[in-house]
Amino acid sequence: MDEHTPVLVEEALEALALRPDGLYVDATFGRGGHTARILQALGPDGQIVAIDRDPAAIAAGRARFAHETRLHLVRGEFAELAALVHAQTAHTFCDGVLFDFGVASPQLDDAARGFSFSKDGPLDMRMDPTRGQPVSVWLADAGADEIHHVIATLGEQRFARRIAAEIVRSRAAQALTRTGELAALVARCVRTREPGKHPATRTFQALRMYVNDELGQMQRGLEQALRLLAPGGRLVAISFHSLEDRLVKQFIRVHSELDPVLARLPRPPASAEPPLRRIGNKQRAGDDELAANPRARSAVLRIAERRA
Ligand SMILES: C[S@@+](CC[C@H](N)C(=O)[O-])C[C@H]1O[C@@H](n2cnc3c(N)ncnc32)[C@H](O)[C@@H]1O
Repeated sequence: MDEHTPVLVEEALEALALRPDGLYVDATFGRGGHTARILQALGPDGQIVAIDRDPAAIAAGRARFAHETRLHLVRGEFAELAALVHAQTAHTFCDGVLFDFGVASPQLDDAARGFSFSKDGPLDMRMDPTRGQPVSVWLADAGADEIHHVIATLGEQRFARRIAAEIVRSRAAQALTRTGELAALVARCVRTREPGKHPATRTFQALRMYVNDELGQMQRGLEQALRLLAPGGRLVAISFHSLEDRLVKQFIRVHSELDPVLARLPRPPASAEPPLRRIGNKQRAGDDELAANPRARSAVLRIAERRA
C-alpha cells in the first residue's frame, strides 16, 4: 500500500546528464524512486534536495533513507523551490531539477486521503492535509457556475454542467462528504463511457487539481527551477495528462525562443538570449515499462537546458 513505481526512471536520469559531484533537486519526492536512482549515480560529493508537500511522503522517505547523508529531504511546496533549496545548502544554483507531477500511488491507495473514486473515504484530496480546504468543504459552498467551471476546465468533462447541478441539488438535502457518494453521483450524470475509464475519473482529477492548485504550483515551480539552474543545468519534467503537458511545453517554448520583436533586429543584444534551450522531443515509456506499469501509459517527459 505504501509503494509507488516510478516512471521513466532511466530516461529521467539520462535527461539530467548527471555530474557525480553535482547538486540536484527532486521537486516531487513521492516515495523516492527517482531520488534513489539519482543517488546511485552520484558520487560521494553529490547532493540531492528532495521536496514533497505531503507529510506522509517525507515520513516514508526519512525511514527509507535514514543513513543517506547526501540527501536533504524537505517538506514544502515546489512553488517555493528556490527558498527551500537555499535553506538546505550553501549553493545558489543547482545542476538539475526533476519534476514528476501528479499524485503518488500511496495517496490514491489510502482511502482515508479521499483521492479515490473506487475506495470510499472522506472527500478530501489534499496532498498536504494540514493546508487548504478538503473538497467536501469547497463543494458545500461553491456556486453551480464555479463547480461547473472547475470540472469543465480542469477535468475537460463534457457533462460538467449536469454534474454541477446535481451536486447543488444533492447537497441541499445532505452534505457530500464521502468519495463514494460523489463517484456515484457523477456516474449518474456521465452519459457516455470512455473505454477503461471510471466515469468519475475526470471529475476527481479536476477537483484534486483545484484544491491543490496544481497548475498554479506547476507554473511557479517551473519559474523557480529556472532561477535555480546553473548554466548547463537540466530541467526535466514528467507529466501525466494533457493540461500538465501543455503547461510544461508552453513554459519551455516561451523561455527558449527569442522575443519576436528582438528577433527582427539585425543583431539582437546578448541580453535578449532566451534562458533555456529545448533538448530533444517529448519522450514516452517503452514497451517493457508499459507492460510492467500501466500508469506509465500517459507519462510524457520533456527536457530543457539552462543557457550560459
Ligand atoms: C507522481 S508523485 C512522485 C513520485 C516519485 N517520483 C517517486 O518516484 O516516488 C508526485 C509527488 O509530488 C508531490 N507534489 C505534488 N505537487 C506538489 C507541490 N506543489 N509541491 C511539492 N510536492 C508536490 C505529491 O505529494 C506526490 O508525492
